Amino acid sequence: MRRAVCPGSFDPVTNGHLDIIGRASRLFDEVIVGVLVNQSKSGLFTVEERIDMLREVTASYDNVRVESFRGLLVDFCRAQQASVLIKGLRAVSDFDYELQMAQMNIGLAGVETLFMPTNPLYSFLSSSLVKDVAKWGGDISAHVPDRVRAELQSRLSPPPRP
Ligand code: PNS
Repeated sequence: MRRAVCPGSFDPVTNGHLDIIGRASRLFDEVIVGVLVNQSKSGLFTVEERIDMLREVTASYDNVRVESFRGLLVDFCRAQQASVLIKGLRAVSDFDYELQMAQMNIGLAGVETLFMPTNPLYSFLSSSLVKDVAKWGGDISAHVPDRVRAELQSRLSPPPRP
């Protein structure tokens, strides 16, 4: 079975993430979305909330599973019997850091990284940007699934205008 891991913080999942997950699901028998549990960085959503949103928005993909992990990504890959990581590249500026991680991960455990160019529709998107726009009442409906938009809007209602 050819299995790949799509790792990330997913705080929260955006349409850019979903595009990569969906495309990966057509290339591999199984795709495991790995949500990092980062004890040193608290996000807007808890890991359980991120997983819940991810499971709902990937429900139409039969071969996608969502799990959390802590510690090294390569250890998670080993536990999941996956030897390939899929990473989306939005721009050339993403590449330097991604290359470092890819080289570290192959050196640590022989885990390969495949880079997938982000759909140009989403090349400017990030979870942080979406949270900032939502915080100030901007329209994020083109950037995240409906469920995520509703969660963001209920959590980040904009302050009253002066
Ligand atoms: O969505 P993000 O925050 O850009 O995802 C980053 C992630 C989770 C892929 C990266 O931080 C990671 O792999 N963390 C796990 C710890 C680890 O394995 N570190 C060594 C990487 S070479």
